[in-house]
Amino acid sequence: MKTLKNALIATSVAVLSVGIAPLTKAQQSFDVKKVVSSMTLEEKASLVVGKGMQMDPSVKQTAPVVGHTDQLVPGAAGISASFPKYGITPMVLADGPAGLRIEPKRKNDKATYYCTAFPVATVLASSWDIDLVKRVGMAMGNEVHEYGADILLAPALNIHRNPLCGRNFEYYSEDPVVAGNIAAAMVNGVQSQGVGTSIKHFAANNQETNRNTVNNLMSERAIREIYLEGFRIAVQKSQPWTVMSSYNLINGTYTSESYDLLTTILRDEWGFKGFVMTDWFGGLDPVAQMKAGNDMIMPGMPKQSTAIIEAVKSGKLSMQELDRNCERILNIMLLSPHFQNYKFSNHPDLNAHALVTRQAATDGMVLLKNEKATLPIAGSVKKIALLGNTSYAIIKGGTGSGNVNAAYSIDLLQGLDNAGYKISPSLKESYLNFLKAEKAKLPKLSANDMMFGHITHIGEMPVNQAKAAILAAENDIALITIGRNSGEGIDRKVDGDFNLTKKEMSLLTEISAAFHAKGKKVIVVLNIGGVIEVASWRNLADAILLAWQPGQEAGNSIADVLSGKVNPSGKLTSTFPMSYKDVPSSKSFPGIELPNPHPKAAVSDFLSAKPAESTYDDGIYVGYRYYNTFKVPVAYEFGYGLSYTTFTYSNLSLSSNTFSNAITATVTIKNTGNVAGREVIQFYLSAPASSLDKPNEELKDFTKTSMLKPGESQQITFTISPRDLASFNTAASSWIADAGTYTVKIGASSRDFRQTATFSLPTEIVVEKAHKALAPSRTFNELKPQK
Ligand code: BGC
Repeated sequence: MKTLKNALIATSVAVLSVGIAPLTKAQQSFDVKKVVSSMTLEEKASLVVGKGMQMDPSVKQTAPVVGHTDQLVPGAAGISASFPKYGITPMVLADGPAGLRIEPKRKNDKATYYCTAFPVATVLASSWDIDLVKRVGMAMGNEVHEYGADILLAPALNIHRNPLCGRNFEYYSEDPVVAGNIAAAMVNGVQSQGVGTSIKHFAANNQETNRNTVNNLMSERAIREIYLEGFRIAVQKSQPWTVMSSYNLINGTYTSESYDLLTTILRDEWGFKGFVMTDWFGGLDPVAQMKAGNDMIMPGMPKQSTAIIEAVKSGKLSMQELDRNCERILNIMLLSPHFQNYKFSNHPDLNAHALVTRQAATDGMVLLKNEKATLPIAGSVKKIALLGNTSYAIIKGGTGSGNVNAAYSIDLLQGLDNAGYKISPSLKESYLNFLKAEKAKLPKLSANDMMFGHITHIGEMPVNQAKAAILAAENDIALITIGRNSGEGIDRKVDGDFNLTKKEMSLLTEISAAFHAKGKKVIVVLNIGGVIEVASWRNLADAILLAWQPGQEAGNSIADVLSGKVNPSGKLTSTFPMSYKDVPSSKSFPGIELPNPHPKAAVSDFLSAKPAESTYDDGIYVGYRYYNTFKVPVAYEFGYGLSYTTFTYSNLSLSSNTFSNAITATVTIKNTGNVAGREVIQFYLSAPASSLDKPNEELKDFTKTSMLKPGESQQITFTISPRDLASFNTAASSWIADAGTYTVKIGASSRDFRQTATFSLPTEIVVEKAHKALAPSRTFNELKPQK
């Protein structure tokens, strides 16, 4: 074995343009091309098919599979093949977006392997803080490294097209500039630790209903401007080691089988250098996947290797294509901790990471309402009536592959107690007894049900008028938590999920009436993973804090904001509409099931989802692009969020009034309130309409001030590039900046523009020629504003 490995020692250095650290000796001496050319067809076909799970019912499992994930890192989602004779080591791939997901306990082992449950992706994005997200990524990456994994299956950056998508908590935003930049920060953080990432799910995995079979009918412009743009930003700003293709089809082709997507766009146009893997059991045809540039099939089934071998033998797949895929995998393997024989400790510094998660969560919380300075909680408040099930059983994060097995999670009861507040003891006892009794009644869920979105929701404990009056007499303030959970496999529902349940409404109504009658205030904390309806009940609360699903330090993080220890600075990365019917995709989401399976809609043996189609008739008008352009009132707009202080914006100046290559925009932000705080500054642009309709405004960049003391100012500069001016012109397959007048809008939100200025572009610029790709096979009506 050793001799063969030595024989493969390279004379030239392998081309590793995706590496971050200087090449080690072992990396330099491994000649990827030479190794691949020495491998047999069978070995190559085995390398491109994962080895983590043995789930093919047609193959009888008589002995443990060599290289099974559980032999390396139990609970990891997958593993790549290893060939010791060539020096090819396995790569351990593990979820996910809120932290490393592995088994916390192992057979015959007293040690524990807990990981930090960081705030879910939406919280991180709501901080709009690139440095913070990078720091979280570094802590996450350190856990990946120290627990012996090689690639984190994250971040996930699909667009919040519709609030009902069950996985929105794993994603960042309705806007690709936010999603792409936050994802890049996460990748840069994780990969700085010497491990890889897999940005997912590429692309347009915007629903869980029929996720394995749904064909998204989409316009090229919507694909480019909305659904791919975040991935482009992430690829170009962070070069993730890998990309995970999605389950769905785009315009008739599985994304994992799409050459247009995985080669023409991802590699040729954007310059991606790593390898692409499928989502688990994604797509149908392993040969089409190989040809398209989906280099690795996960979690891998022996029959996929067999199909690849047969295709090479019959000439359907060329050896060059297979070699190319193998080389891409091995180029990344060279970077992996396993290849470098890293001696992981199994002891990441969980205490230090708990501090990171506690802070990150506070920075992503969004203060939605704060009448009469209800928050921070006044010093005179001693006793709190703490209501709502999730105050006592906090939801730290969503379910499925986005779940993290953390050692603990701090509920709000404990967080408030730690912060020195007194919680009504009788109420606490009632809730704990109630929750215990209700939990006992719940049906036992199988591991599979728990993995795939089956949420057991306990209805709120009833509090009648008389009880509410007693609570109002005995306590200084009421704090009600509303909780929501969701996960992969199932989308959320409108009734009782997007909308509040009857029991929640009744709790809010009774408590609000009783406390307000006594001149006492009501605070609502939203412990949710995705957008809900707020317009119909928000008048019952004096203050609303959107805490999202804030990770394992949840209670402490929430208490930090409620008490004023931390001044909230998060802003919404997705719109809260007035009602579900206002959502532009509400009529088309989640599409229709097809009565007659179309030929490509059969599904792999394991998944019995029905063939389906989802028509993206909302086009580019997703989120605020729709609400602003079509002048639809919203409850809380994209970019919105309050602070305990106030800021003024002044002195916007542009470096020129005429655009040639770039323009800089400079603005001054001043803290005019009484406490220190940070402000998210949003840079929007309104482009002139041409033959193409344009949204009223689009976010092009953002930043966050440093911590400004009262009276302190900071100057912020944005640079506007030609790409910022451009829209995707389908007829020309190009990004074109139309001639005309552009308006710069510096906003505290997408509806609160504090400073504006204009510049002109004298003649059209073809900013980038793209390829004709991913065209829909048939036309459909797309939403357009009236001229
Ligand atoms: C999810 C992916 C995840 C994979 C491995 C799939 O069901 O869609 O996001 O990384 O499982 O756990």
